[in-house]
Amino acid sequence: MNDIIEAVNRAAADAEMKAAAAADAGALEALRIEYLGRNGLFPELSKKMGSVPPEERKATGSAFNTGRTRIQNALDEAMARLGGAGAKADKDAIDLTLPGRKAAPGHRHPITQLADECVSVFRRMGFVAVDGPEIEDIYHNFDALNTPDDHPSRDPKDTFYFPDGRILRSQTSPVQIRVMETHEPPVRIVAPGRVFRRDTPDATHGMNFHQIEGLYIDKGVSMADLKSVLQNFAWEMFGKDVNIRLRPHFFPFTEPSVEYDFSCVVCGGKGCNVCKNSGYIEIAGAGMVDPNVLKNVGYDPEVWSGYAFGLGLERLAMLRYRIPDLRFLYDNDIRFLEQF
Ligand code: PHE
Repeated sequence: MNDIIEAVNRAAADAEMKAAAAADAGALEALRIEYLGRNGLFPELSKKMGSVPPEERKATGSAFNTGRTRIQNALDEAMARLGGAGAKADKDAIDLTLPGRKAAPGHRHPITQLADECVSVFRRMGFVAVDGPEIEDIYHNFDALNTPDDHPSRDPKDTFYFPDGRILRSQTSPVQIRVMETHEPPVRIVAPGRVFRRDTPDATHGMNFHQIEGLYIDKGVSMADLKSVLQNFAWEMFGKDVNIRLRPHFFPFTEPSVEYDFSCVVCGGKGCNVCKNSGYIEIAGAGMVDPNVLKNVGYDPEVWSGYAFGLGLERLAMLRYRIPDLRFLYDNDIRFLEQF
Protein backbone atom coordinates (compact mmCIF):
# COMPACT_ATOMS: atom_id res chain seq x y z
CA MET A 1 0.00 0.00 0.00
CA ASN A 2 1.45 3.39 -0.99
CA ASP A 3 0.70 6.93 0.22
CA ILE A 4 -1.62 7.58 -2.67
CA ILE A 5 -3.79 4.57 -1.99
CA GLU A 6 -3.95 5.58 1.65
CA ALA A 7 -4.92 9.16 0.77
CA VAL A 8 -7.61 7.94 -1.65
CA ASN A 9 -9.09 5.57 0.94
CA ARG A 10 -9.09 8.26 3.61
CA ALA A 11 -10.71 10.75 1.23
CA ALA A 12 -13.43 8.21 0.37
CA ALA A 13 -14.13 7.53 4.04
CA ASP A 14 -14.25 11.28 4.82
CA ALA A 15 -16.57 11.93 1.93
CA GLU A 16 -18.87 9.11 3.05
CA MET A 17 -19.14 10.60 6.52
CA LYS A 18 -19.76 14.11 5.25
CA ALA A 19 -22.35 12.88 2.75
CA ALA A 20 -24.22 11.03 5.50
CA ALA A 21 -24.32 14.25 7.53
CA ALA A 22 -25.23 16.59 4.66
CA ALA A 23 -28.36 18.66 5.27
CA ASP A 24 -29.37 19.51 1.73
CA ALA A 25 -28.71 19.02 -1.96
CA GLY A 26 -26.45 22.09 -2.02
CA ALA A 27 -24.13 20.55 0.56
CA LEU A 28 -23.94 17.34 -1.51
CA GLU A 29 -23.08 19.25 -4.64
CA ALA A 30 -20.30 21.05 -2.72
CA LEU A 31 -18.97 17.65 -1.63
CA ARG A 32 -19.02 16.34 -5.15
CA ILE A 33 -17.01 19.33 -6.33
CA GLU A 34 -14.60 19.02 -3.38
CA TYR A 35 -13.76 15.39 -4.11
CA LEU A 36 -14.66 14.58 -7.71
CA GLY A 37 -14.82 17.99 -9.38
CA ARG A 38 -12.34 19.03 -12.06
CA ASN A 39 -10.05 20.70 -9.49
CA GLY A 40 -11.11 18.38 -6.68
CA LEU A 41 -9.09 16.08 -4.47
CA PHE A 42 -9.26 12.99 -6.68
CA PRO A 43 -7.96 14.64 -9.87
CA GLU A 44 -5.32 16.29 -7.69
CA LEU A 45 -4.20 12.92 -6.28
CA SER A 46 -4.28 11.25 -9.67
CA LYS A 47 -1.66 13.72 -10.90
CA LYS A 48 0.75 11.85 -8.63
CA MET A 49 0.24 8.62 -10.57
CA GLY A 50 3.42 9.40 -12.43
CA SER A 51 5.51 8.89 -9.31
CA VAL A 52 3.99 5.47 -8.56
CA PRO A 53 6.34 2.56 -9.33
CA PRO A 54 5.04 0.40 -12.22
CA GLU A 55 4.31 -2.65 -10.06
CA GLU A 56 1.95 -0.58 -7.86
CA ARG A 57 0.13 1.17 -10.67
CA LYS A 58 -2.63 -1.37 -11.07
CA ALA A 59 -3.48 -1.41 -7.36
CA THR A 60 -3.39 2.39 -7.20
CA GLY A 61 -5.63 2.71 -10.25
CA SER A 62 -8.20 0.35 -8.81
CA ALA A 63 -8.08 2.23 -5.46
CA PHE A 64 -9.07 5.37 -7.39
CA ASN A 65 -11.94 3.54 -9.06
CA THR A 66 -13.19 2.06 -5.81
CA GLY A 67 -12.87 5.40 -4.02
CA ARG A 68 -14.73 7.24 -6.75
CA THR A 69 -17.54 4.65 -6.69
CA ARG A 70 -17.79 4.83 -2.88
CA ILE A 71 -18.11 8.61 -2.97
CA GLN A 72 -20.66 8.58 -5.81
CA ASN A 73 -22.73 5.95 -3.99
CA ALA A 74 -22.56 7.93 -0.76
CA LEU A 75 -23.75 11.05 -2.61
CA ASP A 76 -26.58 9.14 -4.32
CA GLU A 77 -27.76 7.58 -1.07
CA ALA A 78 -27.68 10.92 0.71
CA MET A 79 -29.65 12.48 -2.14
CA ALA A 80 -32.27 9.76 -1.91
CA ARG A 81 -32.51 10.35 1.84
CA LEU A 82 -33.04 14.07 1.22
CA GLY A 83 -35.95 13.43 -1.11
CA GLY A 84 -34.21 12.69 -4.34
CA ALA A 85 -35.27 15.83 -6.20
CA GLY A 86 -31.74 17.00 -6.76
CA ALA A 87 -30.54 13.51 -7.65
CA LYS A 88 -33.16 13.29 -10.39
CA ALA A 89 -32.47 16.83 -11.48
CA ASP A 90 -28.90 15.85 -12.15
CA LYS A 91 -29.78 12.82 -14.25
CA ASP A 92 -32.76 14.19 -16.13
CA ALA A 93 -32.83 17.92 -15.70
CA ILE A 94 -36.15 19.76 -16.19
CA ASP A 95 -37.26 19.64 -19.80
CA LEU A 96 -38.61 23.09 -20.56
CA THR A 97 -40.04 21.93 -23.88
CA LEU A 98 -42.56 19.55 -22.24
CA PRO A 99 -46.19 20.74 -22.46
CA GLY A 100 -47.60 22.02 -19.16
CA ARG A 101 -49.99 20.06 -16.99
CA LYS A 102 -53.58 20.98 -17.79
CA ALA A 103 -55.66 22.12 -14.83
CA ALA A 104 -59.06 20.39 -14.73
CA PRO A 105 -61.38 23.15 -13.50
CA GLY A 106 -64.56 21.04 -13.74
CA HIS A 107 -67.93 22.57 -14.63
CA ARG A 108 -71.42 23.20 -13.33
CA HIS A 109 -73.69 20.26 -12.60
CA PRO A 110 -76.03 19.33 -15.50
CA ILE A 111 -79.07 20.35 -13.42
CA THR A 112 -77.53 23.75 -12.71
CA GLN A 113 -76.73 24.18 -16.40
CA LEU A 114 -80.30 23.27 -17.32
CA ALA A 115 -81.76 25.60 -14.67
CA ASP A 116 -79.65 28.45 -16.07
CA GLU A 117 -80.80 27.62 -19.58
CA CYS A 118 -84.47 27.63 -18.51
CA VAL A 119 -83.98 30.94 -16.74
CA SER A 120 -82.48 32.49 -19.85
CA VAL A 121 -85.40 31.23 -21.97
CA PHE A 122 -87.91 32.74 -19.53
CA ARG A 123 -85.85 35.90 -19.18
CA ARG A 124 -86.27 36.49 -22.90
CA MET A 125 -90.03 36.27 -22.29
CA GLY A 126 -89.81 38.99 -19.66
CA PHE A 127 -89.40 36.98 -16.43
CA VAL A 128 -86.99 37.90 -13.64
CA ALA A 129 -85.17 35.15 -11.72
CA VAL A 130 -85.52 35.15 -7.92
CA ASP A 131 -84.47 32.92 -5.05
CA GLY A 132 -86.23 31.59 -1.98
CA PRO A 133 -85.24 29.68 1.17
CA GLU A 134 -85.00 25.88 1.20
CA ILE A 135 -86.04 25.84 4.88
CA GLU A 136 -89.57 27.15 4.91
CA ASP A 137 -92.40 27.70 7.36
CA ILE A 138 -95.78 26.05 7.12
CA TYR A 139 -97.41 29.36 6.34
CA HIS A 140 -95.49 29.99 3.10
CA ASN A 141 -95.34 26.36 1.95
CA PHE A 142 -98.98 25.48 2.67
CA ASP A 143 -101.31 27.97 4.42
CA ALA A 144 -100.76 31.01 2.19
CA LEU A 145 -101.00 28.70 -0.82
CA ASN A 146 -104.59 27.89 0.12
CA THR A 147 -103.72 24.31 1.10
CA PRO A 148 -106.47 22.73 3.24
CA ASP A 149 -105.51 21.43 6.70
CA ASP A 150 -106.14 17.85 5.68
CA HIS A 151 -104.17 17.98 2.43
CA PRO A 152 -101.95 14.87 2.20
CA SER A 153 -98.81 16.84 1.29
CA ARG A 154 -98.80 18.30 4.83
CA ASP A 155 -98.38 14.81 6.29
CA PRO A 156 -94.97 14.15 7.92
CA LYS A 157 -94.90 11.03 5.78
CA ASP A 158 -94.63 13.29 2.72
CA THR A 159 -92.80 16.37 3.96
CA PHE A 160 -89.66 16.73 6.13
CA TYR A 161 -90.44 18.54 9.41
CA PHE A 162 -87.87 20.06 11.77
CA PRO A 163 -88.52 19.68 15.52
CA ASP A 164 -89.34 23.41 15.67
CA GLY A 165 -92.14 22.97 13.14
CA ARG A 166 -90.35 24.41 10.14
CA ILE A 167 -89.98 22.22 7.06
CA LEU A 168 -87.80 21.57 4.04
CA ARG A 169 -89.91 23.15 1.29
CA SER A 170 -91.83 20.55 -0.68
CA GLN A 171 -92.20 22.81 -3.72
CA THR A 172 -90.91 26.14 -5.07
CA SER A 173 -94.43 27.62 -4.86
CA PRO A 174 -93.75 29.39 -1.50
CA VAL A 175 -91.46 31.72 -3.48
CA GLN A 176 -94.66 33.02 -5.17
CA ILE A 177 -95.92 34.10 -1.75
CA ARG A 178 -92.60 35.66 -0.69
CA VAL A 179 -92.43 37.69 -3.90
CA MET A 180 -96.04 38.89 -3.75
CA GLU A 181 -95.72 39.79 -0.04
CA THR A 182 -92.84 42.13 -0.82
CA HIS A 183 -93.73 43.47 -4.28
CA GLU A 184 -96.66 45.36 -5.71
CA PRO A 185 -98.16 43.87 -8.88
CA PRO A 186 -97.47 43.38 -11.73
CA VAL A 187 -94.89 40.63 -11.07
CA ARG A 188 -93.31 38.24 -13.51
CA ILE A 189 -90.77 35.90 -11.90
CA VAL A 190 -89.19 32.48 -12.22
CA ALA A 191 -87.64 30.76 -9.20
CA PRO A 192 -85.41 27.74 -9.75
CA GLY A 193 -84.45 25.69 -6.72
CA ARG A 194 -84.22 22.49 -4.75
CA VAL A 195 -87.25 20.91 -3.12
CA PHE A 196 -87.63 17.96 -0.74
CA ARG A 197 -90.12 15.13 -0.39
CA ARG A 198 -90.15 11.91 1.55
CA ASP A 199 -90.25 9.73 -1.54
CA THR A 200 -88.47 6.44 -1.90
CA PRO A 201 -85.85 7.08 -4.59
CA ASP A 202 -86.40 5.27 -7.89
CA ALA A 203 -85.73 5.95 -11.57
CA THR A 204 -88.09 8.94 -11.67
CA HIS A 205 -88.26 10.07 -8.01
CA GLY A 206 -85.75 11.41 -5.50
CA MET A 207 -85.92 12.71 -1.93
CA ASN A 208 -84.74 16.01 -3.26
CA PHE A 209 -85.13 17.33 -6.74
CA HIS A 210 -85.40 20.65 -8.52
CA GLN A 211 -88.23 22.75 -9.80
CA ILE A 212 -88.50 26.03 -11.58
CA GLU A 213 -91.49 28.05 -10.49
CA GLY A 214 -93.11 30.68 -12.66
CA LEU A 215 -95.55 33.42 -11.65
CA TYR A 216 -97.13 36.19 -13.67
CA ILE A 217 -99.60 38.63 -12.11
CA ASP A 218 -101.06 41.51 -14.06
CA LYS A 219 -104.36 42.92 -15.24
CA GLY A 220 -106.38 40.65 -17.52
CA VAL A 221 -104.02 37.65 -17.62
CA SER A 222 -105.68 34.60 -19.15
CA MET A 223 -105.12 30.90 -19.61
CA ALA A 224 -104.15 31.64 -23.24
CA ASP A 225 -101.13 33.61 -21.95
CA LEU A 226 -100.12 30.65 -19.82
CA LYS A 227 -100.43 28.25 -22.71
CA SER A 228 -98.42 30.40 -25.09
CA VAL A 229 -95.58 30.82 -22.60
CA LEU A 230 -95.45 27.09 -21.94
CA GLN A 231 -95.62 26.27 -25.65
CA ASN A 232 -92.82 28.73 -26.35
CA PHE A 233 -90.73 27.23 -23.60
CA ALA A 234 -91.20 23.74 -25.07
CA TRP A 235 -90.13 24.95 -28.51
CA GLU A 236 -87.09 26.72 -27.10
CA MET A 237 -85.99 23.63 -25.21
CA PHE A 238 -86.78 20.88 -27.72
CA GLY A 239 -87.38 22.49 -31.10
CA LYS A 240 -90.48 23.24 -33.15
CA ASP A 241 -91.64 19.63 -33.41
CA VAL A 242 -92.69 19.32 -29.79
CA ASN A 243 -96.32 19.82 -28.83
CA ILE A 244 -97.78 20.50 -25.43
CA ARG A 245 -100.95 19.20 -23.87
CA LEU A 246 -102.84 20.58 -20.88
CA ARG A 247 -104.91 18.20 -18.77
CA PRO A 248 -107.34 19.21 -16.02
CA HIS A 249 -105.88 18.66 -12.55
CA PHE A 250 -106.09 20.03 -9.01
CA PHE A 251 -103.71 22.23 -7.05
CA PRO A 252 -104.91 24.15 -3.98
CA PHE A 253 -103.31 27.39 -5.17
CA THR A 254 -104.54 27.49 -8.77
CA GLU A 255 -108.04 27.44 -10.22
CA PRO A 256 -108.46 26.05 -12.77
CA SER A 257 -105.40 23.80 -12.53
CA VAL A 258 -103.72 21.78 -15.24
CA GLU A 259 -100.97 19.31 -15.70
CA TYR A 260 -98.84 20.11 -18.62
CA ASP A 261 -97.20 17.47 -20.85
CA PHE A 262 -94.67 17.61 -23.68
CA SER A 263 -95.15 15.28 -26.61
CA CYS A 264 -92.49 12.59 -26.15
CA VAL A 265 -89.26 13.84 -27.70
CA VAL A 266 -87.89 10.31 -27.84
CA CYS A 267 -90.56 8.72 -30.08
CA GLY A 268 -92.12 11.91 -31.46
CA GLY A 269 -95.46 11.08 -29.79
CA LYS A 270 -95.91 7.63 -31.31
CA GLY A 271 -95.48 5.84 -28.00
CA CYS A 272 -92.37 4.24 -26.46
CA ASN A 273 -91.11 2.99 -23.10
CA VAL A 274 -89.98 6.48 -22.05
CA CYS A 275 -93.52 7.91 -22.35
CA LYS A 276 -95.08 4.60 -21.29
CA ASN A 277 -96.75 4.41 -24.72
CA SER A 278 -98.83 7.51 -24.08
CA GLY A 279 -96.89 9.75 -26.48
CA TYR A 280 -96.68 12.44 -23.77
CA ILE A 281 -94.49 13.13 -20.74
CA GLU A 282 -95.61 15.06 -17.68
CA ILE A 283 -93.41 18.08 -17.15
CA ALA A 284 -95.22 20.57 -14.97
CA GLY A 285 -98.20 21.64 -12.94
CA ALA A 286 -99.81 24.99 -13.72
CA GLY A 287 -102.96 27.03 -13.50
CA MET A 288 -104.57 30.41 -12.86
CA VAL A 289 -103.61 31.76 -9.43
CA ASP A 290 -106.48 31.12 -6.99
CA PRO A 291 -108.18 34.34 -5.78
CA ASN A 292 -107.66 33.15 -2.17
CA VAL A 293 -103.89 33.23 -2.73
CA LEU A 294 -104.12 36.77 -4.07
CA LYS A 295 -106.17 37.78 -1.00
CA ASN A 296 -103.60 36.16 1.32
CA VAL A 297 -100.87 38.46 0.00
CA GLY A 298 -103.08 41.54 -0.08
CA TYR A 299 -103.69 41.71 -3.84
CA ASP A 300 -107.25 42.57 -4.94
CA PRO A 301 -108.50 39.60 -7.00
CA GLU A 302 -111.06 41.87 -8.68
CA VAL A 303 -108.18 43.86 -10.18
CA TRP A 304 -105.33 41.38 -10.56
CA SER A 305 -105.14 37.93 -12.05
CA GLY A 306 -102.34 35.65 -13.15
CA TYR A 307 -100.94 32.25 -13.77
CA ALA A 308 -98.33 30.06 -12.08
CA PHE A 309 -96.45 26.97 -13.14
CA GLY A 310 -93.92 24.58 -11.61
CA LEU A 311 -91.61 22.51 -13.81
CA GLY A 312 -89.60 19.47 -12.73
CA LEU A 313 -85.99 20.00 -13.77
CA GLU A 314 -84.89 16.37 -13.41
CA ARG A 315 -87.72 15.26 -15.70
CA LEU A 316 -86.64 17.85 -18.18
CA ALA A 317 -82.99 16.74 -17.92
CA MET A 318 -83.99 13.11 -18.49
CA LEU A 319 -85.78 14.08 -21.68
CA ARG A 320 -83.18 16.54 -22.85
CA TYR A 321 -80.19 14.27 -22.31
CA ARG A 322 -81.99 10.89 -22.63
CA ILE A 323 -81.06 9.89 -19.07
CA PRO A 324 -82.93 6.71 -18.18
CA ASP A 325 -82.65 7.07 -14.38
CA LEU A 326 -82.44 10.36 -12.48
CA ARG A 327 -80.25 8.78 -9.82
CA PHE A 328 -77.37 9.05 -12.31
CA LEU A 329 -77.55 12.79 -11.69
CA TYR A 330 -76.69 12.36 -8.00
CA ASP A 331 -74.24 9.45 -7.97
CA ASN A 332 -71.40 11.94 -8.50
CA ASP A 333 -69.72 9.57 -10.90
CA ILE A 334 -67.23 11.69 -12.81
CA ARG A 335 -67.62 9.51 -15.92
CA PHE A 336 -71.29 10.49 -16.07
CA LEU A 337 -70.90 14.16 -15.12
CA GLU A 338 -68.05 14.74 -17.58
CA GLN A 339 -70.44 14.21 -20.47
CA PHE A 340 -72.18 17.54 -19.88
N1 PHE B 1 -96.10 23.23 -6.81
C1 PHE B 1 -96.71 22.23 -7.68
C2 PHE B 1 -96.03 20.87 -7.44
O1 PHE B 1 -94.99 20.83 -6.86
C3 PHE B 1 -96.58 22.60 -9.13
C4 PHE B 1 -97.34 23.84 -9.46
C5 PHE B 1 -96.72 25.08 -9.42
C6 PHE B 1 -98.66 23.77 -9.85
C7 PHE B 1 -97.43 26.22 -9.75
C8 PHE B 1 -99.37 24.89 -10.19
C9 PHE B 1 -98.76 26.12 -10.14
O2 PHE B 1 -96.55 19.85 -7.83
